[in-house]
Amino acid sequence: MASSANHAAESFANPNWDSFVHVESVQEIARRKPHFIPQRYIRSDDERPSSTPLPSLLTVPVIDMEKLLLPSDNHERQKEMGILSKACIEWGFFQVVNHGIPHSLIDRIRGVANEFFSLSLDEKQKYAPQAGEAQGYGNMFVVDEDQKLDWGDLMALILMPKKLVNLALWPTTPSDYRNTLERYTTHVERVAMIILSLFAENLQLKSDYFKNKFGEEPMMTMRMNLYPPCPRPDLVLGLSPHSDGGAITLLLQDDQIEGLHVRKNNEWVPIQPIPYALVVNIGDLVEVMTNGKYKSIEHRAVTNKEKTRLSIAMFYQPGLDEEVTPASSLVDEEHPTLYKKFKHHEYIQYYMNKQLNGKKSLADFAKIHE
Ligand code: OGA
Ligand code: NI
Repeated sequence: MASSANHAAESFANPNWDSFVHVESVQEIARRKPHFIPQRYIRSDDERPSSTPLPSLLTVPVIDMEKLLLPSDNHERQKEMGILSKACIEWGFFQVVNHGIPHSLIDRIRGVANEFFSLSLDEKQKYAPQAGEAQGYGNMFVVDEDQKLDWGDLMALILMPKKLVNLALWPTTPSDYRNTLERYTTHVERVAMIILSLFAENLQLKSDYFKNKFGEEPMMTMRMNLYPPCPRPDLVLGLSPHSDGGAITLLLQDDQIEGLHVRKNNEWVPIQPIPYALVVNIGDLVEVMTNGKYKSIEHRAVTNKEKTRLSIAMFYQPGLDEEVTPASSLVDEEHPTLYKKFKHHEYIQYYMNKQLNGKKSLADFAKIHE
């Protein structure tokens, strides 16, 4: 943590890697081509991805961002805004196409991620978290020696604000890792801000409502997830069921290999990869800010028997010191306040110290129980 860190930033450092249980790299386990999956990865019956999943009839909505950038009286735009509104209320998840991020940049961000993960373990461990930090190469959310483990490795970094960026943890191999990540971050922020202003419009809030509430120093963090091939994908999970703790997530999933599932009507619905699309989902903080009108939705990742799957998740969120509270216009007699107000860094601290467990963090931390 930079020495200029203010009080909130210091408390962000509190849920740090020192308090996580250290576990082996899954890439290293997979490299040994084990005949048996280590017990700690094997899920109970009710958590296992069923070995023969029924093809779901449901599909996550697809939003064309180009249409949403048309003049507001355009009929096509109005129709697309309706689809977006429905997606937010009924799904909490959608895919975005025509978002304007150059395909060459998307290819390269995946390229640098893959090249980093293919370095030797020694090389990658140079980017292991430093004391007091919750970023770097390693595992997060393992807080208990007995907890089931996810079949995946990760690289997590804070991208914004500048004062929380620790460049010592940004890989220098490949040599364009930093530059590519910076360029990608700028594009993702632009898309995130547009989407948030469209949310605001659909919710009859001022179009800069979220921008203002996110403050002068909004935060963006990243998780690059690598899911190595698993000899028994029917027994393990790549990533445990969870809702995201930020405001909105923009995820680049693998173009070829399916693996992300969303919980809908108690069924796990796979998100079919669309080349170059971004998967966008509502996080816990937007659920609070919309007083539950838009909900963060549980999702999980499963593994593949032959192939490695890569995903890059970007979490856009308010500044650490900002207050998170339901918008007053979304609270009335019919819609009483469902969440208490809190400072963003208080929730990060809570969320990071728990294992991923569906929507439990939000419910336990912020939900007002009658
Ligand atoms: C995440 C996430 C899904 C995936 O990183 O929060 O949900 O497909 N990732 O890797
Ligand atoms: Ni997630």
